[in-house]
Amino acid sequence: MKIVLKATHPEKETSSCLIVGVYQDKTLTPAAKKLDKATNNCISKLLEKEAFLGKTGQPQSLFHVGSAEFDHILLVGCGKSKKTSPMDFRKIVLAAKKSLLATNVPSAICYLTELEVEGQNHAWQAKQIAEVAWDALYRFDTYKTEKDPIVVLKELVIQLIDNKEQAACEKAIQQGVAIANGMTLTKHLSNTPSNICTPNYLAEQAKVLTKKHPSLNVRILEEDEMRKLGMGALLAVSQGSAEDAKLICLEYKAGPKTQKPIALIGKGITFDTGGNSLKPAESMVGMKYDMCGAASVLGTMQAAAELELPLNIVGIIAAVENMPGGTAYKPEDILVSMSGQTIEVISTDAEGRLVLADALTYCERYEPEAVIDIATLTGAAIIALGFHTTGLIANNDSLAQELIKAGTESCDRAWQLPLFDEYQEQIKSPFADMCNSGGRAAGTITAGCFLSRFAKKFRWAHLDVAGTAAMMMGTSERRATGRPVPLLVQYLIDRTGN
Ligand code: BES
Ligand code: MN
Ligand code: ZN
Repeated sequence: MKIVLKATHPEKETSSCLIVGVYQDKTLTPAAKKLDKATNNCISKLLEKEAFLGKTGQPQSLFHVGSAEFDHILLVGCGKSKKTSPMDFRKIVLAAKKSLLATNVPSAICYLTELEVEGQNHAWQAKQIAEVAWDALYRFDTYKTEKDPIVVLKELVIQLIDNKEQAACEKAIQQGVAIANGMTLTKHLSNTPSNICTPNYLAEQAKVLTKKHPSLNVRILEEDEMRKLGMGALLAVSQGSAEDAKLICLEYKAGPKTQKPIALIGKGITFDTGGNSLKPAESMVGMKYDMCGAASVLGTMQAAAELELPLNIVGIIAAVENMPGGTAYKPEDILVSMSGQTIEVISTDAEGRLVLADALTYCERYEPEAVIDIATLTGAAIIALGFHTTGLIANNDSLAQELIKAGTESCDRAWQLPLFDEYQEQIKSPFADMCNSGGRAAGTITAGCFLSRFAKKFRWAHLDVAGTAAMMMGTSERRATGRPVPLLVQYLIDRTGN
């Protein structure tokens, strides 16, 4: 598919699918008005009859209307307000996309840049349209004999509103496409089942990424090296698995030599059985997604490389499989982490924080400017925030604010939970420096408390994506979302200062 930014006249475009907005009070956007005129008031008649209400995201296709025989006009409802909220704009674009794919059109012109979006400009709108459209091409049918239907859309034109904005809009579209490409990689790795997507597979895929982008370098730490470094927490989780753990260290150096890097750390549990604290069978389905954090690190680094962001970034992925069995670690085992702090295992199912602890300590050697870990860490994050919002915990408020802002800007939102000292009490152990579970109360926060003990030497934030990285777990519709790649890429773009 090609995405083109162009100023077009809808009344002259009879052979493309024309996507235009209509408000609930029957007001037409400029392009809809022109088409209404060109089609003998076809659109207003429809509205008068209340055959189409214009509710936010409501689609309505018109085929071969007017004497000029417009092939296809796709009306999209824009709701009540003339000032669309960013999330509603996203909803409207998504609805248009769905309709477009369902009707198999080869070319389309999107006039939704005409909408007025609260606090956002045309470049932002173009970026959202590009990201949503590109993302729509994603398929996961590698393992299906009969492949999913391919998208026939060859060209999408995004309406340029003001010639003065051309450069800004083009750049925004490029960013939208890079984000969507990053999400595609993330989703693909996430959806790949754990009999294929092993720690070694993730390491190989990281290598593939560095082949595509020479600005990326990778080093894989094997278990022997991790043992020498004293990574007793990470290795304990791997102990019961036939697959070797890998610590995947990616580097992207496009910033000034003296600039400290941003570090992204991904939880890469390729399958989480719960270990000897075995999960019930129903809760185990979906646990191939326990490496979504790791996948988002790869997707984000790919986008950074694609956009040639002038930054230094390191990506650390703790790739481990959590299995039960005779060689596996057990509740009440005491582990010595790389930091020297000791950990009493309460639940072998609280494995994510263990592998992240050693990855955080390992990260110190990069003297990072900021560290962000991304993890499907707690079921409690789903209880607290559901499937729409990522949980955020940080030891630095300005870093937290920067991430929240990036999430809002990219429609990939996060919400901060407190890291108050009181919660630290819950992870006290009678036998070690801490235990790995704080019980049911405030499970997301106590997991954050645990991680914070390994993040004392830098500005650190933690994104709990248990509810947002994959959707509809436990159903046949379950799938990866590619989140929080939009948030992370936006954060990085913001750091470049333009
Ligand atoms: N990977 C899970 C968290 C999870 C659950 C992600 C559901 C996505 C959907 C994590 O390793 C886990 O098992 N956490 C435990 C922690 C508890 C034992 C302290 C949990 O949330 O129950
Ligand atoms: Mn677990
Ligand atoms: Zn897990």
